[in-house]
Amino acid sequence: MFDRLDSLPPDAIMALMQQCKADDRPNKVDLGVGVYKDAAGTVPIMRAVKTAEEIIFGEEKTKTYIGTTGRAGFRETMLELVLGADHPVLGSGRIASSQAAGGSGALRIGAQLVYAASPNATVWVSTPTWANHIPLIGSTGLKLESYPYYNRDTLGVDFDDMLAHLDANAKRGDIVLLHGCCHNPTGADLSHAEWDRLVPFMNERGLVPFIDLAYLGLGRGIDDDGYGLRLVVRDCAESLFTVSASKNFGLYKERVGLLAVICNNADEAAVIQSRLGAIQRTLISMPPDHGAQIVERILGNGDLKRMWMDELTEMRERINGLRRLLSEALDVQGGEAIARAVVAQNGMFSMLPVTKDQAIRLREEHAIYMTNSGRINIAGANASNIPGVADALLSVLS
Ligand code: LMR
Repeated sequence: MFDRLDSLPPDAIMALMQQCKADDRPNKVDLGVGVYKDAAGTVPIMRAVKTAEEIIFGEEKTKTYIGTTGRAGFRETMLELVLGADHPVLGSGRIASSQAAGGSGALRIGAQLVYAASPNATVWVSTPTWANHIPLIGSTGLKLESYPYYNRDTLGVDFDDMLAHLDANAKRGDIVLLHGCCHNPTGADLSHAEWDRLVPFMNERGLVPFIDLAYLGLGRGIDDDGYGLRLVVRDCAESLFTVSASKNFGLYKERVGLLAVICNNADEAAVIQSRLGAIQRTLISMPPDHGAQIVERILGNGDLKRMWMDELTEMRERINGLRRLLSEALDVQGGEAIARAVVAQNGMFSMLPVTKDQAIRLREEHAIYMTNSGRINIAGANASNIPGVADALLSVLS
């Protein structure tokens, strides 16, 4: 029977990662896959993570199953981190939640829940969005449509177009997928003032926000990055959000994520809680434990949490320092607009105004790896290769 199937092209980001790995030019610069790298080009294990692992190895007494929605302590500490300890919805009983296999696992459970509740709802995604959002959500059976978001001419968000498009095309009960911060792939985020306008707009139009928060703390800091999500959860009767610990805890391969569903009331949340467990059971039965246990240990221990926060601050400052260096190097004839955008954008990514052919030339002629859409992971650069990246970019753009 398997001879009936054709092969599929590899995922573009995964293929780029392999291509870069196989490139033996010593001057190559990997601005492709979204992983945080230190100045030496290593994807480091955080000290807080190592310390938590040592404690776990000493104290863990069993490897028994953890249940379909995972660790209660992980869910509670993550919710408190994301929402802030004094958020009015914490303790209201309105939140159903589940640990998941990464942010992607959480997105999939959330999409499956939406499909069960409202199979005719359309999920609106930004243009562009993280490429994998589309198969992850679409393979549940939900229909996806796009709203305008990133303007490749201004290198900023087209907020008025976004609202006008949703106003004209989305129907009550549709879902709007939003990036909580550090938009992937553009780095262009909604301002606080835009979130302040978006939330009443969504409420008036009966649209349900679904927020993907994969980079908390890597933009401007935890409170700043969480601003829009906290507002949505406070002011919308129903919403969903997913959180990933891949980037901000550096736990990529451990697959640590959380899905939270905010319901109208506590009775509904109890029903949804049972649904989340049931969905996970049909997908992977139970989430993996190790990474979630690390996060729970870190967030539940004052010293470890401080250590983690300090490391996260170091990571964020390195990223923002690289943004400033790149901006300075690009601030010459022809590069001024990109120079301004690069420092206004947040997190690991920026989307440069290069065509697919220019991205390929950068790869082939200059050993600089970025996606064909022009997305760069700024954390893949360092102070010594930034001037070369800026020169190569300006040369292919000229
Ligand atoms: C990325 O966007 O590069 C990362 O989130 C890795 C991935 O899975 O695509």
